[in-house]
Amino acid sequence: MPVNVSSAPGGSLAEAFTKEHHEIDVAIEKYMASTHDDPESRAKMLLEAVSALRRHIYLEEEVVFRHLPRATLMMPLMVMHREHGELWRRMDALEESLQGGSTDEQLVADCQELLSLLENHNSKEEPIIYPQMDAALSVLEQQQVAHLLAGGALPEGWICQDA
Ligand SMILES: [Fe+2]
Ligand SMILES: [Fe+2]
Repeated sequence: MPVNVSSAPGGSLAEAFTKEHHEIDVAIEKYMASTHDDPESRAKMLLEAVSALRRHIYLEEEVVFRHLPRATLMMPLMVMHREHGELWRRMDALEESLQGGSTDEQLVADCQELLSLLENHNSKEEPIIYPQMDAALSVLEQQQVAHLLAGGALPEGWICQDA
């Protein structure tokens, strides 16, 4: 679920990344609420949310974080990387559960756990990391990231630093 930055003129990168947080949350919540729908399309919906989250983490770690001031953000960035690792492992487990035919109850519980991890992560990332992002990247760099956010794909086989 790529964010179309060009549709929000004047929107900052922080706003675009925050918007993607919400879109991913909504997609997972939608999956949890749609227990009466066709299982195949539900599974597809969840897998799309998972791959959007993986790509979001990729853009943060490979593109955005490296521009941020290490001196002041070393600790928060360490925490962000560690939590990305937890999210990554949780997504691996969720994909396995989907393929392994876990019960709906189990999958919904797994989603709930993923959502709590996300809430904990995003509630720090949005106020601590994202405001620095708009300040630290040049206009050109911001345009490049916006371009990736709008359509870039996760490179095959990429995993996050602390996965
Ligand atoms: Fe994020
Ligand atoms: Fe993050």
